[in-house]
Amino acid sequence: MADSTALVEGHRCRERGDGRAAAIWYQRAVGFAPGNVEAWVALGDVAADSGRNRLAALHYRRAVRLEPASSLWRRLQAAAWCRAGDAVAAAALLQGLLGERPDDIEALRLLADAWRQMGRNTEALGCYRELLGLDPDPGRDAGAVPLAFAELAIGEGDPLAAIEALEPLLARRCLPATAWLTLARAWAAVGDTIKTRDAVTRYHRDGGDPAAAAAAGDAIAAVLAKADSGLAPAYVRALFDRYADRFDHDLVGTLHYQVPALLVGALTTRLDGRRDLRVLDLGCGTGLAGAAVRPLARVLSGIDLSPRMIDKARQRAIYDALAVGDLQEGLAGAAIWDLILAADVLVYLGDLTPVFAGVARALAPGGLFAGTVERLDAAAGWQLGESRRFAHSVAHLRQAAAAAGLDLADPAPIVPRHDRGQPVSGWLFVAAAR
Ligand SMILES: C[S@@+](CC[C@H](N)C(=O)[O-])C[C@H]1O[C@@H](n2cnc3c(N)ncnc32)[C@H](O)[C@@H]1O
Repeated sequence: MADSTALVEGHRCRERGDGRAAAIWYQRAVGFAPGNVEAWVALGDVAADSGRNRLAALHYRRAVRLEPASSLWRRLQAAAWCRAGDAVAAAALLQGLLGERPDDIEALRLLADAWRQMGRNTEALGCYRELLGLDPDPGRDAGAVPLAFAELAIGEGDPLAAIEALEPLLARRCLPATAWLTLARAWAAVGDTIKTRDAVTRYHRDGGDPAAAAAAGDAIAAVLAKADSGLAPAYVRALFDRYADRFDHDLVGTLHYQVPALLVGALTTRLDGRRDLRVLDLGCGTGLAGAAVRPLARVLSGIDLSPRMIDKARQRAIYDALAVGDLQEGLAGAAIWDLILAADVLVYLGDLTPVFAGVARALAPGGLFAGTVERLDAAAGWQLGESRRFAHSVAHLRQAAAAAGLDLADPAPIVPRHDRGQPVSGWLFVAAAR
């Protein structure tokens, strides 16, 4: 009997669903002709059919040795290693393959899965990101690549990347309804309750399974419960890291940012010519407000969540000290500050009570806290707007200042900036430590 006959018999058995008999025929085929690549691959396939992935990988390896140039056999072997739980072996194979053919999309998909399996999430995200750029059909396999990317990005604290990947594909209707739930989780991680609820509504409207929505709902509800305190720091950091290069140009040029000049104007009347202040600039960004108050300062320190904004501030060479961190960390030290600034930063926070309390602890006696907020006229203390910035009521400023023991002067109505061509209404406030 020839190896080709054994191979045909094997295929017949496999078609009938008799994998064991098929394997016996394929073994005969390689017994007759150890150089028969098709028989080794068939042996690998029946082993994989029955979940014996390690054995499958070894059979595919024989095919690879016989035809080393075949990327298909190498991918089959790598996929089998992955399924067998040996992602290290899979990744090594796939890296070799991609070294020869960087545009092998299938190999890149497998490598992304292998990195993910190994917990090397940065490498996995890099592969998925490359795939999103390369793959002409990101919706195939029920959107497996964009969904895997989004889940990983949310897990790694970059929900904005997940949103950027999912939203255009959802708009083009390339993804299954379940992607709306992933988007909802990403918006929940950002802390945007409105967008989160919108995404859940779209999930139901697109015929999503209510049971899956209920399961995801708990996770979303838990995140939303925290969202009122402000936008997630990871989101704010990612937003401003991306924005840093354009920030000064956009804010001053396009958005007519007025806050630095308005703050200095309000402070000058209260400072009686003092130019020896120790100043802490909360959410200092690139240093636009810092530059305006520098002439009043003996010491100027800044803190900001975004490392890229801090880099820009450093280039300005006006700060004595700069730190990357949450503004509450900047308030944690001794009570040494004569002036604490919050120029257009409180819009990323909901409840301002903890900030006023931290400021009250960090101000020297008689020190001033000067800042701006966007204006809310509703009865609520604060509210997240469409622009994903919070607005605050005067009542809330008064309540937060009183709770902290700071004396708040009547806030002044201002236009801190424009948004989409329209002036934004805001309040400028100055509060004093006793
Ligand atoms: C609109 S910019 C204003 C920058 C600067 N104050 C100015 O007037 O040009 C807001 C800045 O606040 C920072 N920020 C937002 N939330 C923060 C927080 N909780 N702690 C520290 N920085 C924060 C952002 O990273 C961003 O650089």
